[in-house]
Amino acid sequence: MENILKLTDMSIQFGGLRAIDSLNLEVDKGEIVAIIGPNGAGKTTAFNCITGIYTPTSGNIEYLGKSIIHKEPEEITKSGIARTFQNIRLFKNLTVFENVLIAVHLRYRDNIFTSALRINYKQELAMREEVKILLESQDLYKYKNDIASSLPYGIQRRLEIARALATKPTLLLLDEPAAGMNPQETEDLTKYIKSIRNKFGLTILLIEHHMDLVMDISERIYVIDFGKLIAKGSPDEIQNNPKVIEAYLGVKENA
Ligand SMILES: Nc1ncnc2c1ncn2[C@@H]1O[C@H](COP(=O)(O)OP(=O)(O)O)[C@@H](O)[C@H]1O
Ligand SMILES: [Mg+2]
Repeated sequence: MENILKLTDMSIQFGGLRAIDSLNLEVDKGEIVAIIGPNGAGKTTAFNCITGIYTPTSGNIEYLGKSIIHKEPEEITKSGIARTFQNIRLFKNLTVFENVLIAVHLRYRDNIFTSALRINYKQELAMREEVKILLESQDLYKYKNDIASSLPYGIQRRLEIARALATKPTLLLLDEPAAGMNPQETEDLTKYIKSIRNKFGLTILLIEHHMDLVMDISERIYVIDFGKLIAKGSPDEIQNNPKVIEAYLGVKENA
């Protein structure tokens, strides 16, 4: 199994708060792995460390065998790690097409100082064609001229994923992709995530509270509570783990 992501004794401290305490986590190629745990456990913070928004206080993060803890977020994105956010982040006043085009542009830039204006006409056409193909494949092309903020919530979630796919990721990080969705939407999303994993050959690490989705989709699950790993294992193992039931699953209705 080829290792894609490896966190080794990773900790991060905010003032007096140890948001993540010596976390060890590994994701292998092609896997769908979930991180679950109560609110405030440190799940989003882990994503922020992996994507270069925060630098861990100690420990290491390796992507494809190389440490990435001192890389800039844009460099990390270009190396093949894409994400979505707990609270959807789109360019609200731009169209669906433009939202994805910006992500494609990122791949063509040499560095953060190269302006998109230096991209020539031929490249621009190629990029637009790529956006069209991607939107068509995600069943979003019919919304291409719609302003992002005008779309139904479920479509905005899918657009955010499409935008992440436009950076051609190896590893996709999804932060509560089913947040705010009803059971039917959650089921559709579950199928959708499986389909993009297969179609794009992705490795996926996701944070989620909807246990139906998590248990259906994940090959392995990590459970964190107060920044500490309290369990890891298959969906079956996690559902039957007394520590997990006590810390999290038992109080699911309050999450
Ligand atoms: N930039 C920050 N500064 C200070 N505290 C933070 C910061 N980011 C996160 N935290 C704290 O770290 C803890 C974990 O937060 P978070 O990772 O968002 O939890 P989760 O995603 O599991 O709900 C929380 O107590 C949160 O308030
Ligand atoms: Mg979070």
